[in-house]
Amino acid sequence: MRALGLMSGTSVDGIDVALIETDGERVAGFGPCLTVPYRDEERRQIRAAFGADRANGATQAAERLVTETHVAAVRQWAETTATPLSSLDIVGFHGQTITHRPDEHFTWQIGDGAALAHALGIQVVNDLRSADVAAGGQGAPLVPIYHAALARDLHKPLAVVNVGGVANVTWIGTDGALLAFDTGPGNGPIDDWCARRAGVRFDRDGALAASGKVDRARVERFSEHRYFAQKPPKSLDRGDFKESWADGLSVSDGAATLTRGTARAIALAARHFPAPVTRWVIAGGGARNPTLLDAIADETRGKVLTADSLGWDGDALEAQAFAFLAVRSLHGLPITYPGTTGVPHPTTGGTLHRP
Ligand SMILES: Nc1ncnc2c1ncn2[C@@H]1O[C@H](COP(=O)(O)OP(=O)(O)O)[C@@H](O)[C@H]1O
Ligand SMILES: [Mg+2]
Repeated sequence: MRALGLMSGTSVDGIDVALIETDGERVAGFGPCLTVPYRDEERRQIRAAFGADRANGATQAAERLVTETHVAAVRQWAETTATPLSSLDIVGFHGQTITHRPDEHFTWQIGDGAALAHALGIQVVNDLRSADVAAGGQGAPLVPIYHAALARDLHKPLAVVNVGGVANVTWIGTDGALLAFDTGPGNGPIDDWCARRAGVRFDRDGALAASGKVDRARVERFSEHRYFAQKPPKSLDRGDFKESWADGLSVSDGAATLTRGTARAIALAARHFPAPVTRWVIAGGGARNPTLLDAIADETRGKVLTADSLGWDGDALEAQAFAFLAVRSLHGLPITYPGTTGVPHPTTGGTLHRP
């Protein structure tokens, strides 16, 4: 099937649109991808819904906006890549997570799948996390099964880390066994620090962090956070880790220290791996931050590779994963496993909307 995946992560930087060809088991080909950034006003309106646990004016406005911007993003993707929408078989629509509280069996992705299917004239699968959470899983991460499909022919054990607002890892064993969980903060606290202290949305190319000095004592204290010792399955809300542990430091030292903290959290994930890895593949926006990549290499004492260096597309990876998951959902195949979300048995999920 020609499956289009749509992802808007907790960074609220933009909508990733990516095409793959897949039967839900293997990836036969990668199509074009595009990231359509949000405008500042859109970002503000989406963020206003964060943390909500029931529908209100803010969540309804944000949901309409998420749906409209996704329709527009797909149309823009179709135009720039000269791909007719009629050539697509299915759309996997993640939606926008506004609240994630797996311990209360609650996770909420806004975005109207029926309206999207209607506007595009293509069948849409959305709401891919709820069935897992209802069955007792964390509802996250969902990308591991896609990581495993991509890593089919690579030497294992291997760790694949996606550094978005939150960071998550997939450990893949020699026999294909999967263990996955959120490692801790990703770019979230670095972004929040940059916004609050430097008036910029993120630390482009890690330049600010590279110019600062890491406060080692703070990183040591940070690494004692009980989340890191907690056994998987486990997952995080974007707001669970904040930037405030860098308060009192200069702008650049704070960026350096928070960046090191994100790398330390990733390295601490290894204590839960069933067998050690020597190679760490990094994807997501964090893979564009060389200061963070160096810190991860240092903290893990491993070999750090970017997803792009393997011929994957690190920016499109999550969007591709939702295309893959949509096809699996359509075929009734499992999308989550005891090792990935802690769900008691392999579980499918998603809601199908026909145009
Ligand atoms: N050139 C860059 N240098 C440093 N950080 C970057 C760069 N490009 C993107 N990022 C980081 O990646 C984040 C977006 O990552 P993404 O994988 O899209 O996260 P999410 O899945 O949460 O949307 C940005 O908020 C920023 O922190
Ligand atoms: Mg993003």
